[in-house]
Amino acid sequence: MTAMPQMVSLFNGMGGACAAIISIVEFGHLQNELSDLSTEPLKVLTILSGLVIGTVSFFGSMIAFGKLNGNINDKTLPGQQVINIGLLLVIVGLLVAMLGSWTGVDINILFWSLFGISALYGILFVMPIGGADMPVVISLLNSFTGVAAACGGFLYDNPVMLTGGILVGSAGTILTILMCKAMNRSLTNVIVGAFGGNKAGGAAQETGGAYKEISMSDTAVLMAYSKKVVIVPGYGLAVAQAQHTCHELEKVLEEKGVELVYAIHPVAGRMPGHMNVLLAEADVPYEKLKEMEEINPEFAQTDVVLILGANDVVNPAAKNDPASPIYGMPILEVENAQHVIVNKRSMKPGYAGIENALFFQPKTSMLFGDAKKVLQDLVSELKSM
Ligand code: TAP
Repeated sequence: MTAMPQMVSLFNGMGGACAAIISIVEFGHLQNELSDLSTEPLKVLTILSGLVIGTVSFFGSMIAFGKLNGNINDKTLPGQQVINIGLLLVIVGLLVAMLGSWTGVDINILFWSLFGISALYGILFVMPIGGADMPVVISLLNSFTGVAAACGGFLYDNPVMLTGGILVGSAGTILTILMCKAMNRSLTNVIVGAFGGNKAGGAAQETGGAYKEISMSDTAVLMAYSKKVVIVPGYGLAVAQAQHTCHELEKVLEEKGVELVYAIHPVAGRMPGHMNVLLAEADVPYEKLKEMEEINPEFAQTDVVLILGANDVVNPAAKNDPASPIYGMPILEVENAQHVIVNKRSMKPGYAGIENALFFQPKTSMLFGDAKKVLQDLVSELKSM
């Protein structure tokens, strides 16, 4: 499940490539059929749209795959936004020129130029997207693939392909808009590739300093005598496959009269809904999963927050460090609780590659170790109390 986003990117890319290939083949057929392409503008527009969207989707998805898989790093060119807007304008210009057949240039040269520039745009718009923002781009690429497939359906007069494409395209668009909202990003910025940032974080705040550790028995005592505990699940919980042990901890604490809920950040983990699926697999009741907007005001009345393999989604730099690549992303405001206990294996950063000042705050204690092992030990400690 943790490698699912790469898989989704690959699938997206294949869909985009199919749509682009259909356009390439059909453009050849159309040229054989018609002496003047301007007599069938709708058909030409559909073919060219399929070519542009499919190509952007394929090349963008391949870059997204490489980045998620750790093979490609974020790279921003100087004037990236201007270049991307320029490429988009050239694409529109070429489309208009081909539809009107009003240039003296060979139509095939225009067609392959359109392909090349779309490929370049696909690469350049995904290349700089950094840190926590990849999910939004993947969702956008997903909707592109749907639209490109719908063009194919329209071209072949195939209602199944058309409906499928429209469904994927519209679902992807809705998801993109929801994720943009959840991440506090604008859709225009996503399209011109002007958000995210490099992993070094520019002039991002230096954190470091001293952090304190907490023992297993102190953690157990603190939690057992709490009125309210909130668990923040993250990517590490999925890696450790510790969801069942986590549910066990929830039951043990509830038997001791502790109120326990889970705080779900919209991009915790590596795919939309990752934490919901993970916890559902362990039969955690759905009512116990609280969305970010719902849980944030409740942290002030929380005795202990237990963070299990989450990092970026609780990083206060998103709120107070404008130089941070995750600046502006809403976070789970765990600092408002009485005690914060963070379980992870080391002080290494999370997906966005940046340090987390939360770990160095006075009310935070680190509980190092693999999430599954730590939770197993915590459960036995609590049971023996
Ligand atoms: P991350 O910021 O990636 O942090 C996960 C933490 O888990 C790491 O710091 C790691 O620290 C720890 N960890 C790894 N394996 C562990 C294990 N076996 N036991 C205990 N801890 C372990 O996770 P997050 O807070 O869930 O944030 C998600 C990030 O991924 C965001 O930046 C988000 O934008 C991005 N992203 C999300 C999605 C979607 S849609 N959800 C898709 C792509 C990318 P150690 O190495 O020290 O253990």
